[in-house]
Formats: sequence, C-alpha cells, structure tokens
Amino acid sequence: MQKIVVAVDGPSGSGKSSVSKEAARRLDAAYLDTGAMYRAVTWHALDAGTDLTDARAVAAAVKAADLFISTDPDLELVKIHGTDVTVAIREPFVSEAVSAVATNLEARKELVARQRAIIAAHDRIVAEGRDITTVVAPDADARILLTASEEARLRRRGIQLGGTQSAAELETQVLARDAKDSTVVNFHVAADGVATVDSSDLDFEETVTAVLAAITAQARS
Ligand code: DC
Repeated sequence: MQKIVVAVDGPSGSGKSSVSKEAARRLDAAYLDTGAMYRAVTWHALDAGTDLTDARAVAAAVKAADLFISTDPDLELVKIHGTDVTVAIREPFVSEAVSAVATNLEARKELVARQRAIIAAHDRIVAEGRDITTVVAPDADARILLTASEEARLRRRGIQLGGTQSAAELETQVLARDAKDSTVVNFHVAADGVATVDSSDLDFEETVTAVLAAITAQARS
C-alpha cells in the first residue's frame, strides 16, 4: 500500500480527534493523538509533585518521561512509567494544567521529536494536534486545518462532557485554554498549502467525508 502521512490541526471542540481517528480507520492507517502526549506528561508532572510554574523542572520531567501511546485507531491506550493513564488524562484537573507543558518551549521540543519519530516509524499515519501541519510534519502528504465556530465548539465540548458543565466552565475549558495555547502555536489560521475544513455546519459523517476528500485532493497533487 502507498505510504501516506496526514497532518490535522485544530482548536478544542473542532472534532479533530474523533474525525482524524475515523479517517485513519478508513485509510487503513495508524493514528497519533499528540494532545494525549501533552496530557500524559502533564498528568505525570502533577503526580510527581513537579512545580508547574518552574519551567526547568517541567522540561526535565518531560525529557525523562517514559511515555507509550498506542497508534492503533481502535485501541486507545496511553501509559506513563508503566501506569495506564488513558482515562485519567481526560480529567478536568489535567485539562486545566496542560497549558503549563504546552507553553513550555523545551517540553514542546522534546515532544515534537518523539512525535516525528512515531510518524517516521509508520508507512501510513494520521497525526493530529495543534502544530502538526506547521512544525511536526510540514512535509506531510496532506495537511488539514479543521475549524469550527466558537458556538459549535462550545456545544460539542458540552455534549462530550455529559452536559454537566455551566457555560462559564465550558468557556474556561475551551476558549481560555485555546487562548493560552495560541501564544506558542497558531492553530486558528491555515498555513500556506494547508486545506481548511470548517465543520461548524457539518455532522460527524459529513466532516469525515470532507476531510477524506481534502486528503485525496492533496495527496494526488
Ligand atoms: O487536543 P487536546 O485538548 O487533547 O490537547 C491537550 C493540550 O495539548 C492542549 O492544551 C493543547 C496542547 N497541544 C499542543 O500544544 N500541541 C499539540 N500538537 C497537541 C496538543
């Protein structure tokens, strides 16, 4: 089968994880959730009592992290130092702390290197995050920015979290975190050569179809 690397970026609630995973299945490709890597090292730093305001300590913790992430789209598994943190990394206390790692340039450098190594180890892979189209895999065969209106993103995250969050809590989780993360990576505007798919008015199936069409169009050219 032909080799293919697909890079997908987008903000929280754009649907990029579920859409990228489904695109990977349909392309018979591996799937890399880079956000899960940021979350796992954050969970570990918190667990180890690392001072998240100490940039050097955060970077050192990330460099020393023994991190495993499944690239099978049908097996969600993340381990850090042997502990299965697949579920724990989705907890709000991790979401609230993760920007300390995401805005740490040394930590990013380390995770970017690991992400490149994982991508290089696969013939066919869909990798998603915030800086995949621009920093991690700018030479990918297809690069897509998946966007959605603020309203659509808040609505989706609310449903994902079981409808238990107030509007203010959702805004903190989605918009405030994106605003913090945007200080180091721009994932709101497509870089040159990156195709934009706006999912605001599309359902899941329509978004997958649009993303697959964008991949096919780019991979051919
Ligand atoms: O996509 P997510 O919510 O699981 O991402 C978790 C955090 O990691 C989020 O704050 C953004 C950050 N992130 C990043 O800075 N770069 C990536 N390639 C992926 C995620």
